[in-house]
Formats: sequence, structure tokens, C-alpha cells
Amino acid sequence: MLSVPQKHLSNGMNVPCIGMGTFGSDRYTPAQVSEAVRGAIRFGYRLFDCAAVYGNEDLIGKVFEEAIAGGVVKREELIITSKVWNDMHGKGDVLLSCAKSLRDLRLDYIDIYFVHWPFPNYHAPGCDGDARNPDSRPFFADEFMAAWRQMEKLADMGLVKSIAMSNMTIPKLEQVLPLCRIQPAAIEMELHPAFQQPELFEYCVSRGVQPIGFCPIGSPNRPDRDKAPGDIDPASMPEIAEIARAHGVHPAIVCLKWAARHGQIPIPFSVHPENYENNLRCVTEDPLTDEEMGKIAAADKNCRLVKGQVFLWKGSSSWRALWDEGGTISGWDS
Ligand SMILES: NC(=O)c1ccc[n+]([C@@H]2O[C@H](COP(=O)([O-])OP(=O)(O)OC[C@H]3O[C@@H](n4cnc5c(N)ncnc54)[C@H](OP(=O)(O)O)[C@@H]3O)[C@@H](O)[C@H]2O)c1
Repeated sequence: MLSVPQKHLSNGMNVPCIGMGTFGSDRYTPAQVSEAVRGAIRFGYRLFDCAAVYGNEDLIGKVFEEAIAGGVVKREELIITSKVWNDMHGKGDVLLSCAKSLRDLRLDYIDIYFVHWPFPNYHAPGCDGDARNPDSRPFFADEFMAAWRQMEKLADMGLVKSIAMSNMTIPKLEQVLPLCRIQPAAIEMELHPAFQQPELFEYCVSRGVQPIGFCPIGSPNRPDRDKAPGDIDPASMPEIAEIARAHGVHPAIVCLKWAARHGQIPIPFSVHPENYENNLRCVTEDPLTDEEMGKIAAADKNCRLVKGQVFLWKGSSSWRALWDEGGTISGWDS
């Protein structure tokens, strides 16, 4: 079994320095994803990034149950995450959503439970990129904190070991962190060589919040609604290709080696054993050099791939409003 280095979260939890994503991107069925989880556990993965909205927690839960009952892995060796979806932020709903994920995943507790997006803007699964929900509205700290209080309650009850946030910005964190009784142990954010988010990354690290990097390979098979002209595929960047040649690996592997050395926890997805096995192995051998790390840092394209435009509210013109690019919370004046 591979010896995968661990990261230590500020609340004392130990987490492998790489995990596996479980979002099938509307391309892979729940059965395919859960079979990949089965193979990944056998290969040595111990961190799995799940979410209610991925629509596959029930099948993945069966795989966890069988692996634990069959002695392949002990429950305490696994770090299993889940996330409350945007339509379940209301009073009591976060608790209900967690209860459903616990039931589906067949667990007594979830290791890290995330607020998936910082606003309750719902869109139907698989909807078109131009779809807008008339009830969508900008971020509002009081509304977010009402959901976060429920997250804190889940932690108090021992149903989740750590609570965490996702798709946050510095202006939003500035508003909510001082209000949190329990600080987030981690924040999930898009991170890959074409979108390095250095300010947000440093902001989190300096406050003891572990960044977890989603789309670490640039999500080449993401749903079409999340693709736009001008998107940059990190695996196609010349700097990444050159380093890949030097190491004799696929450019995807360079993205993961970069992530692991940079300090985030990448959660790459694949249903193909050759790929997910290479992904885990690559953080245990042949690290990138300081010079290669410097080249990748200089090659950042600030190119966000998951723009979240389906969460926009009436009257907002650009997905950039979701990310507070002007340095303040966007929306209420537009
Ligand atoms: N918090 C959030 O809002 C959020 C948003 C997006 C994603 N996520 C999480 O992050 C996870 C990862 O993101 P993602 O799945 O969108 O993108 P990703 O991990 O960047 O890319 C996945 C794609 O990369 C390919 N790939 C994987 N390993 C490879 C390798 N060694 N060589 C070549 N190709 C390889 C896979 O193709 P094959 O299938 O052909 O192997 C797969 O389609 C998700 O599954 C989900 O758990 C969270």
C-alpha cells in the first residue's frame, strides 16, 4: 500500500494530501463513479469528496459499507466529505440534508461537511448555462450565517467532525469569519496551474484554513454549460507540457504534483483505474523541483473555469459578480 503524506488541519484532523473527486460531470453514471470509488479504496485512496448534488451518494455509500464490512479499510482510516446543496440552507434544512447524506453514505458521521455554495441560489441539476432562477439573490452574510449556525450544531452533535466552506471569496470571508463560533477547517476552491488564486490561497493558509483544490486538472470533461470561449486547459499550457516531458508523465500528473507541493489538497476525478492510480502514486514520488514550481507560479493565467453563472440573480450581467472581483460583495446595488 502506498504511503500517502498527510496534512494536519487546524482542528487536529489528519487528511491525506490527495483525494478522489466523485462528481460525474453529467457524463459518468453513479454506478461508474461508485465502482471507481471501490477500486480507489483498494488501491489506497482514503479521502473521498462527495456531495448531495452529485446524485450518487447512495451507491457510493454501499461501496463504503462493503469495504468496511469486508475488512478492506477501517472507518477511521477514511476521510469522507459531503456538502449541503443550495436548496437546503433554510431553517432546519441543513440538518435534514446532512441526515440524508449520512443515510445515503451509510455513515454515523461525516468527516468534513461543506456549505457547497455561499448562497441559496438553486438551479435544476443539468440545467442550461443560460438558465436563471427568479428567486436567486446575491450573497447576504446573515443568510449564510443562518446556514453556518446549523453546521456548527451538526459539529456539536458529533454528526460531522469538521465543517467547511466552498466557493468563497475574501470579501465574503472577511464578513463571516469573525461571526463563526467554529471556524471552517477547510475551504474548497478551484485551483490548478491556470487558476492559482494566490491571494485567496494565502488568506486561507494564514488563518489556518486548509485549501482543498477542485478541478485540479482543469476538469477537461466538465459539463458543456461550464465551458466558455477563452477557457484555458492547464494540461495544455506549454510550461506544463514541458515539465511533463522532463518527468516522462502526462500533463495531468504535473498539475497534481504541483498541487501537492504547493500545499492544497487536490481531489482529482477519474473512473479509469490507470488514471486514478497514477494520480495517487504521483504525490509519493519524483516531486517537482523549485525551479519547476517557480515556472508554474509565473504561468498563472487567472482563468476561472467553474464560473457558476447559473447562480446569478436577475439584473446581474456577468458571472464575475459572484466572485466579488471588485473587492467588495457584489450584487445588492445592481
Ligand atoms: N466544491 C465545488 O463546488 C466543486 C466544483 C467542482 C468540482 N468539485 C470536486 O472536485 C472534483 C474534481 O474536479 P473535476 O472532476 O471537475 O475535474 P478534474 O479532477 O480536474 O478533472 C477530471 C478529469 O480529468 C481526467 N483525468 C484524471 N486523471 C487523469 C490522468 N492521470 N491523466 C489524464 N486525464 C486524467 C479525467 O478523465 P477520465 O475520466 O477520462 O479519466 C476526468 O474527466 C470533482 O469530482 C468534485 O468532487 C467540487
